[in-house]
Amino acid sequence: MKLKTIYICENCGGSSPKWLGKCPNCDSWNSMQEDVIDTSAKRDHKGISKSPTPLCRTEEKETRLSTNIKEFDRVLGGGFAQESLTLLSGEPGIGKSTLTLKICEQIAMQGKNALYISGEESPNQIGLRAQRLGITTENLNILGETNLENIFATIDSAKPDFLVIDSIQVMSSAQMPSIAGSINQVRYCTEALMTHAKNNNITVLIIGHVTKDGNLAGPKVLEHLVDAVLLIEGDRYQNLRTVRGLKNRYGSTNEIGIFEMTEKGLQEVTDASKLFLEGRKENAFGSAITAVVEGTRPLLLEVQALTSASPFGYPKRAASGYDVNRLQLLLAVIQKHLQINVSDQDVYVNIVGGFKVNDPSTDLAVIMAIISSIGKVPLPRGAIFIGEVGLSGELRTVPQLEKRIREAEKIGFNQIYLPPSKEKTFGTNTIPLEDIGAALLTLNLADSRGGKAKKS
Ligand code: TYD
Ligand code: MG
Repeated sequence: MKLKTIYICENCGGSSPKWLGKCPNCDSWNSMQEDVIDTSAKRDHKGISKSPTPLCRTEEKETRLSTNIKEFDRVLGGGFAQESLTLLSGEPGIGKSTLTLKICEQIAMQGKNALYISGEESPNQIGLRAQRLGITTENLNILGETNLENIFATIDSAKPDFLVIDSIQVMSSAQMPSIAGSINQVRYCTEALMTHAKNNNITVLIIGHVTKDGNLAGPKVLEHLVDAVLLIEGDRYQNLRTVRGLKNRYGSTNEIGIFEMTEKGLQEVTDASKLFLEGRKENAFGSAITAVVEGTRPLLLEVQALTSASPFGYPKRAASGYDVNRLQLLLAVIQKHLQINVSDQDVYVNIVGGFKVNDPSTDLAVIMAIISSIGKVPLPRGAIFIGEVGLSGELRTVPQLEKRIREAEKIGFNQIYLPPSKEKTFGTNTIPLEDIGAALLTLNLADSRGGKAKKS
């Protein structure tokens, strides 16, 4: 073996023979890590000609391994694809191990053989957690191990159908000279696991940590290797957890699964709209409801806004669960097209429940919440606001309107404000609006101009 020390960028996987403060490949700072590679491997290989198959004649049928957890199966596109390798990533302490244990239980209860390999916690610790979660199934085996070769030997004798690796960052192979958690190890272990699992018909779930800024710890290469990457997110101090697909070779990446962290582990949230609207105050100003669509699923959310006179020349704009740049833009639209002065107001926007929205259909609700806060006028209790707002204040249509309307009606909203549609009418509960000026008139909020409270 001929070893050589090189430096590899943690972010992009680019390498350099010297240490550098800034990666020449992706320009990230302080990301080069020392690593050792074997340069003796023979690289000359004469190619062998193989015969390609016509695509329409490939015969594999798609089979899925369901987890019986609806919220999770939907994100995967109907359960794990057989023999696939999925990476579940998330910040430490967010609930990856808890969710995975539950998944193992559900798979084991279908008579499949599940093997949970943990390098982070001891089997006893996991046993205690399993007790607390009420897991009693016989088919779930647990092993504390970090050496890849030992894991392969165990797989060969135990022959599991479903394998969990918790987590990939603590696994290491004797084939690689570098330490566990280094890019080379993580990449090598993932590659080796992938090959070994595909040869033995095993479905694998790998747990991986993410860095503070949300990147997978380890090079981007890992994302290319695996079949699916799922991300579990949420505020550690709030109970809501969402699982979404960042990559999925066997399904869409638009779907999300919603869970709630309880003392009995992660519980599915099937009626999310109710959860997000819980605790809504009667007649509170600065609150507007909207309907977003995540994948195929409509969700009702409460948008809250608070405005207060700014003591400084440069007013503050802050948002939680919402894009601040989008907020700035909407404030400019309010200023210009409604002639409501927001330039001397601090503006805070919050999406209730710790949810993050990217759907532009929230625009109208954000604007209405802000106006309601400025004028100190509560919006009608049965009102819901759907629509993207353009730079000239016009309301633009959004996809899957009917789905949103149906969800709103189901929860009992009867004044559904939405963009105008030429082709369709959506029933008696809907009120089409041309622009945000029309919204102000229809709701009798025109007095909010100039920050005066409306007498009622
Ligand atoms: P864990 O699954 O260990 O996180 P990860 O594997 O992503 O690092 O979850 C840890 C947190 O979850 C811990 O702070 C406590 C909380 N938790 C509960 O609230 N209820 C439970 O039933 C369990 C098992 C954990
Ligand atoms: Mg864990």
